[in-house]
Amino acid sequence: MSEVQVVHTAELPTTTLEAARALLDEAFDGDFSDEDWDHSLGGMHALIWEGAELIGHASSIQRRMIHNGRALRTGYVEGVAVRADRRGRGHGAALMGAVERVVQGAYDLGALSAAEAAAAFYAARGWQSWQGPSFALTPAGVLRTAEEDDSIFVLPLAIPLDLSGELTCDWRDGDLW
Ligand SMILES: CC(C)(COP(=O)(O)OP(=O)(O)OC[C@H]1O[C@@H](n2cnc3c(N)ncnc32)[C@H](O)[C@@H]1OP(=O)(O)O)[C@@H](O)C(=O)NCCC(=O)NCCS
Repeated sequence: MSEVQVVHTAELPTTTLEAARALLDEAFDGDFSDEDWDHSLGGMHALIWEGAELIGHASSIQRRMIHNGRALRTGYVEGVAVRADRRGRGHGAALMGAVERVVQGAYDLGALSAAEAAAAFYAARGWQSWQGPSFALTPAGVLRTAEEDDSIFVLPLAIPLDLSGELTCDWRDGDLW
């Protein structure tokens, strides 16, 4: 079983942050923006090492999701990647297991936006596809984010959710979900 290190951003040396960014750049074929990286910081990172080489990363950061009139403290999962030549060996599952423990222990809800190719990976772990309309709080008001509806997954915890209801995320630069 993969050994996963779980560390807050504040405790990570610059060299590890650089290695994580490089891993994500490679895993997303250059489609991982500075904003995407920013979204992966400020929370708990799950890291898998092979010797001195970082081969897996995922993080969980805090956001607020408004649902049923409540602003739910949400563990939002970002930056999930395993180096291409190390996939299919359980590392992704180990990273998600570590991140899910953080989410379960600290938040009302887990949420993430899945790349199309990874949706089944999350679904198999019990993440549920959001069925209702999504929105974002923006400086210009509440914005419907219809193009994101199909990519949103949640990990329901103690708070009951209506998966066909509305879900509204907080504001940030870059991709809102
Ligand atoms: C998604 C990703 C992290 C999975 O990592 P991995 O190390 O290959 O995953 P694992 O080997 O732990 O697989 C765990 C289980 O999920 C399944 N699985 C892995 N990737 C899957 C996918 N894309 N779709 C469906 N199932 C998948 C595996 O078959 C395995 O199933 P099993 O337990 O029944 O054997 C990896 O493919 C990756 O880095 N992809 C590129 C970046 C990316 O898309 N990240 C997600 C962005 S939202």
